[in-house]
Amino acid sequence: MMDRPIVAVASDHAGYALKELLAACLRAWGHEVLDLGTDGETSVDYPDFGNALGEAIEAGRASVGVAVCGTGIGISIAVNRHKGVRAAVCHDVTSARLSREHNDANVLALGSRLIGRQVAEDSLKAFLETAFAGGRHARRVAKLGQ
Ligand code: RB5
Repeated sequence: MMDRPIVAVASDHAGYALKELLAACLRAWGHEVLDLGTDGETSVDYPDFGNALGEAIEAGRASVGVAVCGTGIGISIAVNRHKGVRAAVCHDVTSARLSREHNDANVLALGSRLIGRQVAEDSLKAFLETAFAGGRHARRVAKLGQ
């Protein structure tokens, strides 16, 4: 993945605290963060924030995204409806690393109710630091966009 990409972050209320924590990590690591909300723990609808993230990636306002809801599932479904987005729900460092190596994922989706903060932070680091392996995986990823 390119050096210090602009990272868009989005969450619903369930993912808000983890989204804030990961945004702080990203800034500490030198990334520019595009925060698309939500901005508190008042109940909201995850598709609204997943769509905002999908639009940002689609428009090239960010090249990478982090999406957080209670499970990571709802928001990943919303963000994956956008062209050029490959969001992967990951639960550990290995799934985050393989989502980059094999799937060229550009959005990391996390479930705040399922994983701890340290695992989330380590997964994000692995996601950002792992390159797409290409080769046979490139043919498969190309088919996802057809
Ligand atoms: C909100 O309660 C919850 O449904 C949402 O955060 C998410 O887990 C949906 O997939």
